[in-house]
Amino acid sequence: MFGTIAGVVAAVLLAIAAILAVFGWVYRLRSGRATTAASLKGKTIIVTGASAGIGKEAARDFARRGARVIMACRNLQKASKVASDIEASTGSKSVVVRELDTSSLASVRSFAARILAEERRLDVLVLNAGIGGPSERVLTSDNLELTMATNHFGHFLLANLLLGLLKDSQPSRVVVVASMAHGSVKTLDIENLNFKRKGSFKTFEAYCQSKACNILFTRQLAAMLKDSGVVVNSLCPGLVLTEIFEKADGLVLKYLLNIGAHLAGKTPEQGAQTIIHLAVSEDTATINGEFFDNCKVAKVGCDLVLDDGLGKKLWEASETLVGLQPEERHY
Ligand SMILES: NC(=O)c1ccc[n+]([C@@H]2O[C@H](COP(=O)([O-])OP(=O)(O)OC[C@H]3O[C@@H](n4cnc5c(N)ncnc54)[C@H](OP(=O)(O)O)[C@@H]3O)[C@@H](O)[C@H]2O)c1
Repeated sequence: MFGTIAGVVAAVLLAIAAILAVFGWVYRLRSGRATTAASLKGKTIIVTGASAGIGKEAARDFARRGARVIMACRNLQKASKVASDIEASTGSKSVVVRELDTSSLASVRSFAARILAEERRLDVLVLNAGIGGPSERVLTSDNLELTMATNHFGHFLLANLLLGLLKDSQPSRVVVVASMAHGSVKTLDIENLNFKRKGSFKTFEAYCQSKACNILFTRQLAAMLKDSGVVVNSLCPGLVLTEIFEKADGLVLKYLLNIGAHLAGKTPEQGAQTIIHLAVSEDTATINGEFFDNCKVAKVGCDLVLDDGLGKKLWEASETLVGLQPEERHY
């Protein structure tokens, strides 16, 4: 009896795995590719979170095209090994590592100060670093919820601090790595961005909210920079097999999406393609404020992220929460 049930369960699981594997094969086959052969000689690109996954493969592509690549990373030892690997595989001698912890406003400020002191230009800023988030609400030393701080607030501050340099280097680009996960966000309570209200924190919801904020921020910044020579776009890289799921907590990210990514996900190199398309392609040089998927303009997952009134409120609340000073405003 038990043997029969176990056999049926095993057969069902095998069938599901086989269906997902076929789905994954088709999914990867249809994955968009950045087809541009453009060179990046003389250009400087910052990639946050370039020590792993999608950011690492985007950095490798930029190095191969001749850019000066600044890997903005929290783990310097890990990032240095990746930088050496990128240089060895591309022949580049222009990959540098700089310390950045996007979850710490002090770290963002000191990283930006170093960039402004050392770099003469900034052609592309890729805001890619991200976490799936912890199982419980964790507050940073800035009193921000950790997922929101890492994925939204740190990048919000960083983009603002580097905006003057981006403008001076125009034409330049900002590329924001969001996610289709934003589609599940039904409401965004500007008074509760850091999940202060008792019982309001849930791991996957915090992740989805941070990704909705990425898109709202992109659209707001794009509108502010209209005709400035700086374009800003966001993207979803797709479901990509990276470390993010292992490092995350919670049923959806750590288990469900992790299994999905193992069976059907893109490779990190495939996942990096839309970043590369937005950072390099001539076709996207003047596109501003759009959301991309598979190297094409895509429909967003929910109308909330198209609400420009909400985007403005998020911008103002973010300015307050990161303590943006009048002299740090470059728009
Ligand atoms: N993988 C997917 O299926 C998927 C789908 C949609 C969107 N995304 C988005 O893609 C982006 C890249 O994720 P991934 O999948 O490539 O994950 P990953 O392999 O875990 O890479 C994430 C990168 O971000 C860095 N990072 C995390 N917290 C940081 C912090 N506080 N300060 C500085 N760097 C930090 C990590 O550094 P360490 O190496 O030190 O951990 C790593 O370099 C994220 O924004 C994610 O939300 C991923």
